[in-house]
Amino acid sequence: MANSKSLIAIFTIIVLNLLFSLAVAKSPTFYGNLSPKSLGLKKEKLSHLHFFFHDIVSGPNPTAVRVAEAASTNSSSTLFGFIAMIDDPLTVGPEPGSKLVGKAQGVYGSAAQYELDLLMVMNFVFTEGKYNGSTLSLLGRNAVFSTVREMPIIGGSRAFRFARGYAQAKTHTFDTKTGDAVVEYNVYVFHY
Ligand SMILES: *[C@@H]1O[C@H](CO)[C@@H](O)[C@H](O)[C@H]1NC(C)=O
Ligand SMILES: *[C@@H]1O[C@H](CO)[C@@H](O)[C@H](O)[C@H]1NC(C)=O
Repeated sequence: MANSKSLIAIFTIIVLNLLFSLAVAKSPTFYGNLSPKSLGLKKEKLSHLHFFFHDIVSGPNPTAVRVAEAASTNSSSTLFGFIAMIDDPLTVGPEPGSKLVGKAQGVYGSAAQYELDLLMVMNFVFTEGKYNGSTLSLLGRNAVFSTVREMPIIGGSRAFRFARGYAQAKTHTFDTKTGDAVVEYNVYVFHY
């Protein structure tokens, strides 16, 4: 008796499973599993990029422009609330005429009331070499008076799909008269 009961139970489970998998197969889905190979993803590698970021706020052709501010921004010692849009050149060396390898496009703004911390949201858009057309996205806190500021790299495109890593920024020169800055970037990313 117990045997036939458990047989029936097993049979019921099998039939229910079958019906369920049929139902799943028939219902349209918008997701599924994929092998990394089907996207051409081979071995993950680690890359190091080194370049200089030119933040030009003065002169007739600034690459960083203030686009927004709070009513209280100018009376704040940290310019709390201001936001700048940037299209800053990235070059191999620190000189302004050095070879251009890309641009840093995005925004930064003063995000702290009592110290100068910038919220950085930008894409490094590369235009040279094997990374021409590829981008890396950075989102982080830039405490500009610290010697080395570390900010996360949260993604990328093309050669940098699935990228993750960090950038270290170090001020190379800062012109106190004009506000122009040259910043050295070392970027370390895992990608495929
Ligand atoms: C703050 O100063 C900037 C630069 O001098 C000026 O363009 C802007 O109008 C000022 N903003 C306010 C809200 O006073
Ligand atoms: C980078 O790619 C663009 C678009 O494909 C192309 O026009 C340009 O010549 C390339 N630059 C270099 C330096 O290869």
